[in-house]
Amino acid sequence: MYAIQAENIDKRYKNGVQALRHLNLSVKTGEIFSLLGQNGAGKSTLIRILTTYLKPTSGTIMMLGKDIFREAATIRSEIACVAQQTSIDTHLSLVENMMFQSRLYRIPKTEAKKRMETLISDFGLKQYMEYPVSSYSGGIKRRLDIALNMMSKPKILFLDEPTVGMDIQSRMAMWEMMKKIRDDFGTTIFLTTHYLEEADSLSDTVCIMKDGKEVIQGTPFELRTYTRQDTLQIRFITNAEAKEYVTHIAEHCSLKEVRLQNDTIIINTKDSHADLEKINLFLIESHIPYNGIQISQPTLEDVFLRLTVNNE
Ligand SMILES: Nc1ncnc2c1ncn2[C@@H]1O[C@H](COP(=O)(O)OP(=O)(O)OP(=O)(O)O)[C@@H](O)[C@H]1O
Ligand SMILES: [Mg+2]
Repeated sequence: MYAIQAENIDKRYKNGVQALRHLNLSVKTGEIFSLLGQNGAGKSTLIRILTTYLKPTSGTIMMLGKDIFREAATIRSEIACVAQQTSIDTHLSLVENMMFQSRLYRIPKTEAKKRMETLISDFGLKQYMEYPVSSYSGGIKRRLDIALNMMSKPKILFLDEPTVGMDIQSRMAMWEMMKKIRDDFGTTIFLTTHYLEEADSLSDTVCIMKDGKEVIQGTPFELRTYTRQDTLQIRFITNAEAKEYVTHIAEHCSLKEVRLQNDTIIINTKDSHADLEKINLFLIESHIPYNGIQISQPTLEDVFLRLTVNNE
């Protein structure tokens, strides 16, 4: 059963920018779905369309079994969206913010109080209740913002870059919160992120998009094995040394797909053992001072770079 099915979505803005082109994707009910893509790939445009704030130029979208353009009002009452800027009012207390939200959705007062208490305890917000919201850290504000959006018991929760700019502890707390929302509330989560390890550890399904179109969609495991291509990594002592030798090694060993990542040269290879032998021999014979050489299986980041970098 699908929560969202988008087919052939095109979006051309008035200024002529084609933000989405023939995009297709499907999100299963009850899963965490992560959308990955470089800046300008069209992620926020897609979220604005799925949350009915923006109309596509063409295409069809079924959400929770309904056509979202014909039944936009119903859909709006069944979803919630946490944008990058928080929607909380820092002049109000935590409780006032939550009760205000419940009035927007016309939730009866006793029911609203019950929901609020559950959310406050489930999302670890109790200890912050006595402090003014204006004193909250960015991570706690974001947590409150999500709790507010859960007041209406949405079937789908959209999150545009929920963990951007957070330190690792806050991000991990946020991951736990998202898993709880999926597991305990049964809510489908659709999020965008730039953090590959986040998508990898958190999502049931990942979709990578480029230039307004999906390039691949699958489980993190499926994506990692997609290229079925190992990489060879030659590590140097300094970034400068890696940079100095990269062209030299690529030319002498006739390597095509080579890139630099800090102190490491990364080579895509179809025959990792043969290439390892060839390169290792060359490095030793040429007295190139490398730190280590190894074969490694593709990470989600490798797959992402292979699929989104423009020289493909
Ligand atoms: N309101 C708008 N009018 C015209 N062009 C727009 C508008 N909003 C976005 N764009 C353009 O559409 C393309 C996709 O933008 P979008 O914001 O959807 O990308 P994104 O994937 O969310 O990027 P980021 O990772 O930087 O948030 C970009 O080329 C952008 O400049
Ligand atoms: Mg965006």
